[in-house]
Amino acid sequence: MINLKSPKEIECMRKAGHILRDLFLELGERVKPGVSLKKLDEFAYDYIKRHGCTPSCLGYGGFPGTICASVDEQVVHGFPVDRRLKEGEIVGLDIVLALNGWQADATRTYLVGEVSEEKKALVRTTEESFFEGVKQFKVGNRLGDISHAIQEYNESRGYGVVRAMCGHGIGREMHEDPSVPNYGKAGHGPKLEVGMVLAIEPMVNMGTWQVLEDGWKCVTLDGKPSAHYENTVALTENGAEILTL
Ligand code: MF3
Ligand code: CO
Repeated sequence: MINLKSPKEIECMRKAGHILRDLFLELGERVKPGVSLKKLDEFAYDYIKRHGCTPSCLGYGGFPGTICASVDEQVVHGFPVDRRLKEGEIVGLDIVLALNGWQADATRTYLVGEVSEEKKALVRTTEESFFEGVKQFKVGNRLGDISHAIQEYNESRGYGVVRAMCGHGIGREMHEDPSVPNYGKAGHGPKLEVGMVLAIEPMVNMGTWQVLEDGWKCVTLDGKPSAHYENTVALTENGAEILTL
């Protein structure tokens, strides 16, 4: 069942979203060669607490950190371990926090120092595909229009769109209906309505779309890099509003 949110509820989610947005700006200044994932995790935990929020990933299904930190061929759900980032890597930081019980979920993929043109193009295209999806998030469209736009943008550029994980509705729960795949048929699926709040999150591989999953582990099958970009987006009377940007 899709849970529609009132303008008041969206206002609560906006507040949570803006805290998460600001956290990513801080993290962006801290991602550089030599910094450990653990250090970034500690910074995020403190930041979230200092702003009166709770870290939703910590302990979720046993997840061991505040942030998911996925380097290069890691697609999602990387543990924020004591590993130092190296020049040329890309790292996706996926964070969910809650303010007064309202969740915000977003991901940025950062470049660590100087990164190859190939990886930069992957990260850029992944972000751009999110915005292509958001353009379709409007009354009169269906969910499949968002999915299809994201798939088309990435595949026409030669990339693989991950199927094993999807975006999702979000609200009081981190994961609500509907599931938001990054692939699909235009004109299909539930109608988009004012009050829907979705985490739209393309996960895009440089090579094959296939991934190897084993528990939390999720890496590309061919070992090539993967990028992820995500925001929490509300459909309001005035159109789609990105709450975490
Ligand atoms: N933010 C991610 C999502 O959209 C991942 C959360 S997994 C967790 O589902 F275990 F870390 F919480
Ligand atoms: Co998400």
